[in-house]
Amino acid sequence: METAKIRIPRVFSPLLRESWRYKFYYGGRAGGKSFGFADSLLMKGRETKIFVACVREIQDSIKDSVHKLLSDRINYYELNDYKVYEDRIDNIITGTRIIFKGLRDQNAQNIKSLEGVDICWIEEAQTITKKSWDVLDPTIRKDGSEIWISMNRKEENDALWKILAANPDERTLVRKVNYYDNPFCPEEIKIQAEKCKERDYDDYCHIWLGEPMAQGDYKLINSQTVREAMEPKMDSSTSPLVIGLDIARAGSDKSVFCFRKGRYCYKLHAVKGFDTVEIADLTTRFIRDHHPQRVFLDLGNSGAGVYDILTHRGYGEIVRGINFGGKAIQSDRYKNKRAEMWDSVNQWLRGDLPVQLPDDEELFDELCAIERVKVAQDQLQLEDKEEFKKRVGRSPDKADALALTFAEPVFDIGRPRLYGNGMVTVEDMFMDNTQRSNSEW
Ligand SMILES: Nc1ncnc2c1ncn2[C@@H]1O[C@H](COP(=O)(O)OP(=O)(O)O)[C@@H](O)[C@H]1O
Ligand SMILES: [Mg+2]
Repeated sequence: METAKIRIPRVFSPLLRESWRYKFYYGGRAGGKSFGFADSLLMKGRETKIFVACVREIQDSIKDSVHKLLSDRINYYELNDYKVYEDRIDNIITGTRIIFKGLRDQNAQNIKSLEGVDICWIEEAQTITKKSWDVLDPTIRKDGSEIWISMNRKEENDALWKILAANPDERTLVRKVNYYDNPFCPEEIKIQAEKCKERDYDDYCHIWLGEPMAQGDYKLINSQTVREAMEPKMDSSTSPLVIGLDIARAGSDKSVFCFRKGRYCYKLHAVKGFDTVEIADLTTRFIRDHHPQRVFLDLGNSGAGVYDILTHRGYGEIVRGINFGGKAIQSDRYKNKRAEMWDSVNQWLRGDLPVQLPDDEELFDELCAIERVKVAQDQLQLEDKEEFKKRVGRSPDKADALALTFAEPVFDIGRPRLYGNGMVTVEDMFMDNTQRSNSEW
């Protein structure tokens, strides 16, 4: 074995010299975390036989992983004892093996392949969800095994930050490292950091000092307001019922009905695998049983078909088709209808009067996750569904259904008409909402 001259910034020496169950490094861009971890792993793997798993939340292909970084370092140092394969790296002398996994794709079965791991490196740990962590942590169970974590903090509530680093226990090492701690930081990077500092200090703190972004900066909805709305406080309302219906695209997503009367949102009804006719049938049943003043449904995906069926059945007065990408009512303030509806949810949650949401963890996660997109002027634009799905792992079906209940203002018109093909009478239609809407609207 030749003696490569490997130099690792001192701050990373605990990776090789100390034993901790969790080694948690965080900080801003270019702190040397990725290089420091990669070099340390490679060194350790030359000393003794270890089994290493490099994991991240999502790994669509090996290109997303640190495979390339490790093989670059191997080439740079000319570590000929390492052999790089497409999906793993082996040390042919010690028998060390390094593999690469995305946690989100793991099921109970193949996560077992990680049970013999000595060192698990979680890169980009700010994206790890609590759910993934709850599966991973007990899987890394070999005596003396370690979990190495490198993170650029994104927000106050990053799951692993909260679980491990916010109040570290006696088994956890927490170290902050920024570009000025990195003796190898390229001059160009330092210049960029300084420029950023002059231009926008908040950005600098976040990007270069690794401080979490203030919540209001890019999240639309404050999580505290959602928690408060989910605490039970009302069980009825005299406001007219509005139903929002978010319709799945063929495949994985759910179709969700959301029931809201003014400040009282009391029910989410999700169905999976329904076709257009089945959705229309269920909507018809809800109209007949619950007498909504309006049903706002999303015209995207197969929504247009559902809309046609319902209007043919005579519900054209009740059912409104909404185009998420369509023009907002206040088009100077909102990029599209969807942004406007979501902001209505936001205003509703932040209003002076208490509101009620059903206690639903999925709804909570979706509402808190949606991000604004930074665009010129004061127009609000949200990340689109595809981006959201990539980031969060599913689409915000429940929250979109809630948002749809805000598509247009609904007033209690007080003058009943006959809806449906004679299937609904005036009496049963307005049985429970003959009162005019009060201040709840
Ligand atoms: N051990 C090292 N040897 C040489 N260059 C390094 C080393 N560590 C860091 N660097 C330089 O610093 C830059 C930032 O390091 P990196 O590990 O990518 O930081 P982070 O993961 O914290 O964002 C790298 O692109 C590289 O140019
Ligand atoms: Mg990095």
